[in-house]
Amino acid sequence: MFHVKEVLVNTPSSKALIDQNQKISSWRRFFLSFATVFFLILLWSIGNFKKEPFITETLSIKGDALSGSKLFKINCVGCHGISAQGFVGPDLHEVTKELSDKKIINQVIRGLTPPMPSFEIEPQSMADLLAYMHSLN
Ligand code: HEC
Repeated sequence: MFHVKEVLVNTPSSKALIDQNQKISSWRRFFLSFATVFFLILLWSIGNFKKEPFITETLSIKGDALSGSKLFKINCVGCHGISAQGFVGPDLHEVTKELSDKKIINQVIRGLTPPMPSFEIEPQSMADLLAYMHSLN
């Protein structure tokens, strides 16, 4: 019985123990945030790695602006306006002058800037959309 009572009292030695525990937990916290950041960077680069073939393939295909304009009417006009003049999303008439094709592809397939969603799209359709956007200049 006596023993139990002694353990419950906050003696200097138990305080040292608590300090030590807190030190360990702050190290653990540091390590965990480091691991999380590392893991996110890893996921991000795996994502990059996976999308690279899509971009290369798309850029190697000659797109058709007419079929691109149809795809645009189905998927994009809600935000970019019926003639890409801009609405919720920006005017796209000069976009191919401002952004590289690669950046535009990333914009469409990645969903980097909400509210614009990421699109699951075939390379041919992406090439058509690009041809359409080039035709807007
Ligand atoms: C839900 C609304 C929405 C839809 C649908 C949408 N967009 Fe967007 N889009 C946006 C917004 C908002 C931005 C601006 C994002 C930002 O802040 O950079 C944007 C930006 C862009 C840009 C970059 C413009 C620039 O000047 O930086 C391109 C290119 C683009 N969209 C193409 C498309 C295409 C192609 C489609 C259809 C496949 C599409 N968007 C569908 C909302 C949308």
